[in-house]
Amino acid sequence: MTRRSLLLGSAGLALASLDTRAPRAAGANDIHIAARPARARLAGADRPRADVWAYDGRVPGPLLRLRQGEPIRILVDNRLEQDTTVHWHGIRVPNAMDGVPGLTQPPIRPGESFLYEFTPPDAGTFWYHPHANGLEQLGRGLAGAVVVEEREPIRVDRDLLWLFADWRLTAEGEIASGFGNRMEAAMSGRVGKTVTLNGSVSAGEPVRAGERVRLRLVNASLARIMALRFERHRPVIVAIDGQPCDPHEPEGGRILLGPAMRVDVVLDMQGEPERSYHVIDDFYDGLAYGVTQLAYAPGPPLRAHPFDAPLTLPRNPLPEPDLARAERHDLTLQGGMMGGGGMGGMGGMMGGAVWTINGMSMTGDGHAGMTPALTFQRGRSIVLVLRNETAWWHPMHFHGHSFLLLTRNGAPVPHRQWQDTVLMAPKDAVELAFLADNPGDWMLHCHVMDHQMAGLMTVLRVA
Ligand code: C2O
Ligand code: CU
Ligand code: CU
Repeated sequence: MTRRSLLLGSAGLALASLDTRAPRAAGANDIHIAARPARARLAGADRPRADVWAYDGRVPGPLLRLRQGEPIRILVDNRLEQDTTVHWHGIRVPNAMDGVPGLTQPPIRPGESFLYEFTPPDAGTFWYHPHANGLEQLGRGLAGAVVVEEREPIRVDRDLLWLFADWRLTAEGEIASGFGNRMEAAMSGRVGKTVTLNGSVSAGEPVRAGERVRLRLVNASLARIMALRFERHRPVIVAIDGQPCDPHEPEGGRILLGPAMRVDVVLDMQGEPERSYHVIDDFYDGLAYGVTQLAYAPGPPLRAHPFDAPLTLPRNPLPEPDLARAERHDLTLQGGMMGGGGMGGMGGMMGGAVWTINGMSMTGDGHAGMTPALTFQRGRSIVLVLRNETAWWHPMHFHGHSFLLLTRNGAPVPHRQWQDTVLMAPKDAVELAFLADNPGDWMLHCHVMDHQMAGLMTVLRVA
């Protein structure tokens, strides 16, 4: 085995999906993907296949490599038996390209297509998923990553992507039905027992002593929150939700990754040849498990001295909010089990809703004729105060903009963290700031898909 084939080893799977910028259809740079039913081996190579819905028949869907500031056209075919759309999570696209049915585009009917055209302004790690029947469509496999390449990336030996997803499988290995259980929607959402890395349960990631790897972590789960620890390694966070931050080690060595969040880390492989080190998720008390292992190849380290190159990524062209002159608005999350009023208080909510934002529930994936909870004048600086008055965690996501996380429970948030999704613990309050520069009606919702579907969603208008 050559060194190269060894290095590629089972990571070949991940790398294969890193190289699939398939030039198809009309223009040489156009991308063409189809959402369709397929079969996939989620539980591992030796386990039965499951029926999935997948982009180009693959779980996860093809990794799309785009270039910062270069226009792209992506044609999406719907070969499912139900409506779909594609949302480009975290990419600051024009409103009409945002993929929210009813709100920004008509749904893509079965057998029809939609052409998405935009120019990604920011480099970084993003992802794409449906915004129609999202709980079930994401839960059956429709998700893929988008890497928007920096013009001048940081120097690393390899750039890897780990897209996590969480599944509830039957004894036969099929995806369990029963999406949208109201009880579950009022609690933690649909958390499964099988966690996949790039589409199947991972036996290990081949690495080489001495190498420096950029690892792009994506949590494409419906509801599972992850807290990742790397045994004997010291990851450095260089970007959150695609946006560069001051490089820093995660608090307590745990990388928190709520649904829809991305974290880019740089890992120097300082372990010993031929040994394996666990990557552990211990978010849920007492339920720690190994997500994968860093499996060191035999042979001498790649280099004698630790890699010495800067870790700071070039900033994206995000418009800075003017904090001194910002408008302040509050959004209060309520409902769910054991929340203010409890299930009893939920009796009055409409359409299966169990959650509210400022007393209102918007259910499903998108709607026409929704009155925005807040309207901002274009060009205004906004500070949003999000208060989680529930007893549950919520990764709150805002479309069309990235925001600067200012404070959490009154304490300033260090490292200049721009995000599109903020993970809120029960009773947390956060302040986030952005410049309302992207006109249109934009979703703000929890990315625990059951929570979104059951009312934890609203619309903010930039007019
Ligand atoms: Cu990834 Cu409306 O979300
Ligand atoms: Cu989004
Ligand atoms: Cu939630």
